Amino acid sequence: MAWVRKQVVPTEEQGIVAVGLLTYLTRRAIVRHCLARLPRGARVLEIGSGEGLTIKGLSRRTDLKLHGLELRFDLIQHTRNQFNVYPPPSPLPSPIKGEGEAHWGPAHSPTFVQGNALTLPFPSQTFDAVICVNLLISIPAPSWDTLIKECFRVSKPNQPVFFDIRNSLNPLIWLQTMAQPWLAPHLSFTFQNTSPFRFADLLRRHEIKIGRHLPVGAPVWLLAPVILFECRRSAPQSDVPR
Ligand SMILES: C[S@@+](CC[C@H](N)C(=O)[O-])C[C@H]1O[C@@H](n2cnc3c(N)ncnc32)[C@H](O)[C@@H]1O
Repeated sequence: MAWVRKQVVPTEEQGIVAVGLLTYLTRRAIVRHCLARLPRGARVLEIGSGEGLTIKGLSRRTDLKLHGLELRFDLIQHTRNQFNVYPPPSPLPSPIKGEGEAHWGPAHSPTFVQGNALTLPFPSQTFDAVICVNLLISIPAPSWDTLIKECFRVSKPNQPVFFDIRNSLNPLIWLQTMAQPWLAPHLSFTFQNTSPFRFADLLRRHEIKIGRHLPVGAPVWLLAPVILFECRRSAPQSDVPR
């Protein structure tokens, strides 16, 4: 498995936490999609930015304002070093209100904030796009409600929020989830998976519309190992009906 990954995944994409072939393919799909479709000057948040590989891909569009949020401080330090944005260059532009521990680099340079996806340190309606890629695998399913609420709180109305699921209808995903504790015991992920129907139900309960399904790793979205959901919500948040 590790040998196959080494042959297929470009060296610079073999990260610290983003180590798998599927994480690479998922990231590549979202980067291509966003590079082609995000409007000029969009402010984009990636939640669970890891070692910054998605942000690195998106930084090819120099008009985008890119922000990463990550739980682990060692990864925040790593990304700040990689992008050379730490210590903060001076003078700093006006920060976004409620930034918590954030520091914000000069216009158009990526910034990285330590924080928890379940209590985002940003004001409501801050971002033109929110990306959660390879994140749900690490967050236990009972917390997905909170994560979805937070994503749509910080995104502007009618703007895209992206999630990917490991599709439990795909037999390889099912096997991988079962075998993961033996294959890669050093990884702290829960390897949470779900079916696209269950995930669509969850989104509907939050009054969220699914715009597109982007299959990763197979042409048919229903059976693909990973499915990317592009979602939007027009109305302000109300409480999730039980
Ligand atoms: C598999 S990595 C994916 C990294 C990146 N999104 C990518 O695709 O390259 C998942 C990342 O989510 C982070 N993470 C997990 N739970 C989180 C939480 N509650 N809040 C913020 N980040 C979290 C992990 O620390 C890890 O860096």
